[in-house]
Amino acid sequence: MKTTLSVIKADIGSLAGHHTVHPDTMAVANRVLAEAKRSGVISDYYITHVGDDLELIMTHSRGTLDPKVHETAWNAFKEAAKVAKDLGLYAAGQDLLSDSFSGNVKGLGPGVAEMEFEERQSEPIAIFMADKTEPGAFNLPIYKLFADPFNTAGLVIDPALHNGFRFDVLDVYEGESVTFTTPEESYDLLALIGTTGRYVVRRVWRKQDDLLASTVSIERLNLMAGKYVGKDDPVMVVRLQHGLPALGEALEAFSFPHLVAGWMRGSHYGPLMPVSQRDARATRFDGPPRLIGLGFNVKNGKLVGPSDLFDDPAFDNARRLASDVTDYMRRHGPFMPHRLEPAEMEYTTLSLVLEKLKGRFKKEEGLTKAKHSVYTAQSSE
Ligand code: F6R
Ligand code: MG
Ligand code: MG
Repeated sequence: MKTTLSVIKADIGSLAGHHTVHPDTMAVANRVLAEAKRSGVISDYYITHVGDDLELIMTHSRGTLDPKVHETAWNAFKEAAKVAKDLGLYAAGQDLLSDSFSGNVKGLGPGVAEMEFEERQSEPIAIFMADKTEPGAFNLPIYKLFADPFNTAGLVIDPALHNGFRFDVLDVYEGESVTFTTPEESYDLLALIGTTGRYVVRRVWRKQDDLLASTVSIERLNLMAGKYVGKDDPVMVVRLQHGLPALGEALEAFSFPHLVAGWMRGSHYGPLMPVSQRDARATRFDGPPRLIGLGFNVKNGKLVGPSDLFDDPAFDNARRLASDVTDYMRRHGPFMPHRLEPAEMEYTTLSLVLEKLKGRFKKEEGLTKAKHSVYTAQSSE
């Protein structure tokens, strides 16, 4: 029998700004999921949060995009949002873009990473969840994890990994996808996924037997809503060991706190800081972008665990470097490359400010318009 792992997340409101969920909202979500477990819709679940995102980790045997499982998650978010409203929490119901549920949560606001698999004899998995960033934030670590031998020793040493992996990449602007195999097409893959705001690694398979190894939530809330409604704080599931990357190789990919888009007002580049669940609150400048990791074993559809993977002094240097980079980036204030590039800023409130400046420009005699204009205060005419 196959097991499905569904990680579904949403920001339904936060205590004192956008930095953390309130325990009462987690408690009510817990009640909804406990009832779904009792009635057999799901087999098991675990609830956590990173920053202002409520994370529902569920196992069941109903396959991906199952209406009942998605409805359960939707109801948990709706109930939690009600509590958030009653408590006067900030931005209550933020990610729930629709009033009504229709089959599954895709396009309704929540982020989803799901995979169905035949459980191996032992099925170790890691779930990575980030706040104040976007799905493309996982492009760099997922590349390191499955395609970089300097990160993942198994690519060189273990014959089961040696043939490489297949990456499924989604163009979130065009709604098109493309696959590449590594190592042979590594450069083509990198040519796309370096553009993190547009090309997102969605799934990875082991090439030799098509075993699904990883899946990432790809929802970009702002593109769905057409305006800024918060960042698309992503989740990623990775299956581990025995011919897949080891847990330590998966964690190693996050030992470098690379710069990701998001942070304050979804408008800044900052380092992705790996933290324990205890430190999963977005504080300084609404960040810096945070990442938590939980390790589980899946056995007969049950979740055994979790282990709080970054609650470890081995990641102190990554956190220190992230803090130093935070200081450095912050000193740029409103200047690029701390602030995002114009195309990404279109989905933020900056466009409202620029709109007001449009009428202030005067044509300069003798100067012609560039053929390829970048976004400026005037170019959206
Ligand atoms: C970023 C985020 C926060 C808010 C910021 C302003 O994803 O959620 O950084 O953008 O706190 O929030 P508002 O405009 O709601 O006051
Ligand atoms: Mg929020
Ligand atoms: Mg968030």
